[in-house]
Amino acid sequence: MSTTTVSAGTTATAPANMMEVRDLVVQFGSGHHAATVLKGVSASVGIGRTVGLVGESGSGKSTLAKALVGTVKPTSGTISIAGVDTADLSRGDRAAMRRRVQMIPQDPYSSLDPRRTIGQAIAEAIDPKRPDPKRHRETILEWLRTVRMPEDTIDRFPHEFSGGQRQRVAIARGLVLRPEFVIADEITSALDVSVQAEILNLVARLRAELGLSMLFISHNLAVVRHVSDDVIVLYQGEIVEQGPAEQVYSNPQHPYTRSLLDSVPGAPGFSID
Ligand SMILES: Nc1ncnc2c1ncn2[C@@H]1O[C@H](COP(=O)(O)OP(=O)(O)O)[C@@H](O)[C@H]1O
Ligand SMILES: [Mg+2]
Repeated sequence: MSTTTVSAGTTATAPANMMEVRDLVVQFGSGHHAATVLKGVSASVGIGRTVGLVGESGSGKSTLAKALVGTVKPTSGTISIAGVDTADLSRGDRAAMRRRVQMIPQDPYSSLDPRRTIGQAIAEAIDPKRPDPKRHRETILEWLRTVRMPEDTIDRFPHEFSGGQRQRVAIARGLVLRPEFVIADEITSALDVSVQAEILNLVARLRAELGLSMLFISHNLAVVRHVSDDVIVLYQGEIVEQGPAEQVYSNPQHPYTRSLLDSVPGAPGFSID
């Protein structure tokens, strides 16, 4: 961690955390129909770290992801990205923040427009106002290489690719702006088990190569374990356990974490490439 002297005798410390939420509450609806989906969640992702967020369907994982990208408004609590409280952002700063925080979508079949080439889809992420695959050709090709897709992918359409290949493209599209913070919400859940392992290998490699700060969300603890430094277990909108991934996996403290482990048959065949 670096420190900068701002004036004699005082130092400002660079933020240690890329993301930090404190006492985050998200409630949907009101009165009799109110549902409190996040009940005071406090968590952080350190710079260059990957934190796995695990919990069964309906536990509030995607709601937390949406709060982080600003599409769900917290009822109370604070969210800081790179040391900045997102509640303090002006409209313009909010737009800039949206480029710094990227969500990789879950479903590679619906996230790519069938009428646009892969080159157009990635160019759109680079410059939504003037998407131009020709102008950004070198950048697009570089990212296709990074996710191990052939160069001619640039001129092809989504239907020409498998689910796993589309997810590689979606990852390239999510990373092309070099976001500081990446949220991957169930990015392997729509894929066959053998393909899941491929995508996990890719994520593991990218996080090492690019030094990503990432929140990696899955309902499967075995999946999360392989790409995460630390693991957070969410149960009915509350964190019931958090710690180093290996520790949570090999020595779970909370009965709910144990039940999550019992309910998964094991990791998909996995090896670092
Ligand atoms: N916009 C919404 N309005 C009302 N309820 C919602 C809304 N979004 C999510 N929920 C509810 O919040 C709970 C958590 O959902 P979600 O965050 O998607 O869970 P997860 O991603 O862990 O499966 C679910 O019961 C869901 O029905
Ligand atoms: Mg979800």
